[in-house]
Amino acid sequence: MAVVSTLWILLVLPLTLAFFLQPRRNYSFGNAGDGNEGRTLLLTAHPDDETFFFSPTLTALSHMQNVGRARDVFVVCLSTGNAKGLGDVRKEEFGKALEIFGIRQGRRFILDHPYLQDNKTAVWDPAVVAQELRPVVAKYGITTILTFDAHGITGHPNHFSALAGAAHLVRILPAATRPRLFALHSRPATKHLGPFAALIPRRNVSSQGPVFIASLGDFSTALRAMINHPSQLRLVSFLKGLFSRYLWVNEWVEVAI
Ligand SMILES: *[C@@H]1O[C@H](CO)[C@@H](O)[C@H](O)[C@H]1NC(C)=O
Ligand SMILES: *[C@@H]1O[C@H](CO)[C@@H](O)[C@H](O)[C@H]1NC(C)=O
Ligand SMILES: *[C@@H]1O[C@H](CO)[C@@H](O)[C@H](O)[C@H]1NC(C)=O
Repeated sequence: MAVVSTLWILLVLPLTLAFFLQPRRNYSFGNAGDGNEGRTLLLTAHPDDETFFFSPTLTALSHMQNVGRARDVFVVCLSTGNAKGLGDVRKEEFGKALEIFGIRQGRRFILDHPYLQDNKTAVWDPAVVAQELRPVVAKYGITTILTFDAHGITGHPNHFSALAGAAHLVRILPAATRPRLFALHSRPATKHLGPFAALIPRRNVSSQGPVFIASLGDFSTALRAMINHPSQLRLVSFLKGLFSRYLWVNEWVEVAI
């Protein structure tokens, strides 16, 4: 009985808070110079990163697209997540989850490069990441790249390799076509706070980029995307997901190149 009521409180409290939380979606990476977003590319390492870590940003960008304030959004995932041999399954899940966020075929890409394979201990070569990313950035005139920060949320080396690769690319591109680079601020100490994370102010004001806060509707979009990753969903990961700050709040920091 105590367990049931504890669980009940654990679920109801955050959702009640979320109901009163002011969603924040109308914040800009401010690239086009006219208050409109430019063309944004989210760079991830494994299929499901987009859902578990970047949902509030994807729903905000889709909201801004609906009100005519954002242009196309692209997602590039650097591996098929084949560490346990599930690469083909996870590729399909990636597509289904991104459909939920409104990112259609032709706007989402998943790589399967021999040097960029899902591996908990592998640091990927930034030059290879940059070389694979470059054609997409050039073809679609990407103005803003979003990815992990140097901690990579969980400390997974593939995550921070995405940042190193994107930074490498930005450095070697001619200044005129150089996208701005933003990193998702890792907050390991408060990672299980769910929507309560929205109440904790950012300490480092010098590093401010946009902050997105999910609405209940955005959160339910994220949950729908989450159930499209059945190969990754154990009960524990589902609960962790429910209480993850990154399903509610995304704080961005611009990376100085
Ligand atoms: C979003 O922000 C822009 C400028 O930052 C403002 O002009 C616009 O009215 C806002 N839209 C909504 C729906 O709040
Ligand atoms: C994972 O990467 C490490 C190097 O960090 C390497 O020694 C190991 O062989 C890789 N595992 C697989 C399955 O490729
Ligand atoms: C604050 O952000 C700036 C710019 O991102 C960074 O250089 C600095 O190390 C950060 N300071 C702290 C205390 O995190």
